[in-house]
Amino acid sequence: MFITFEGADGCGKTTQLKLAAQYLESQGKQVVVTREPGSTGLGVQLREILLGYDGEVSSRAEQFLFLADRAQHVDMVIKPALAAGKIVLCDRHTDSTTAYQGYGRGLNLERIDYLNNITTDGLKPDLTIVFDVDIETSAARVGAQKDRMESAGTGFFNRVRQGYLEIAKREPSRVKVVDAARSIEQVHSDITSIIGKSLN
Ligand code: TYD
Repeated sequence: MFITFEGADGCGKTTQLKLAAQYLESQGKQVVVTREPGSTGLGVQLREILLGYDGEVSSRAEQFLFLADRAQHVDMVIKPALAAGKIVLCDRHTDSTTAYQGYGRGLNLERIDYLNNITTDGLKPDLTIVFDVDIETSAARVGAQKDRMESAGTGFFNRVRQGYLEIAKREPSRVKVVDAARSIEQVHSDITSIIGKSLN
């Protein structure tokens, strides 16, 4: 089973992913926790460029760097783990490219679907959880120290948030939205029930 966690920066999904992994392990499941970008040797270097490069980056170049990281990640980490019967919990995946480069940067959405599909060689998450939170709350969680992507501004993050909600509308059986402005315990309890239903 392949589960992805998605949402704008500061939505709290990384904390929830760790809690979900602990929960699944306590149920005797074998879990692999991973993230994009930066979960392979090559990906670590791509991540440094994507988040730290201080020159101008065209939106199309940015898109292809995220996709290169993903192709390597799918081939070297995700597919082998799934083939070994493990549950893969992935912090960001294809929907991040749709939300950030598509809705956020304004690149063509159909083309992103096509490129995502080639990049993953047709692999799709069985379940995706979108952590939805208002821009003020997520900005406060990110704090003053911002990387290249986090510095994109309020208009950008509003589009990213709306993008995720559109993705969920388009694919309601795969994508579940949770209200991530609530307490860690409340959100975790939603996540365990969503994952539990999906596993059954
Ligand atoms: P990261 O520090 O991992 O953010 P977070 O902890 O919020 O997941 O940085 C990843 C950044 O890259 C984040 O701003 C989202 C962005 N991103 C894209 O724009 N497109 C993508 O395809 C992916 C995977 C990430």
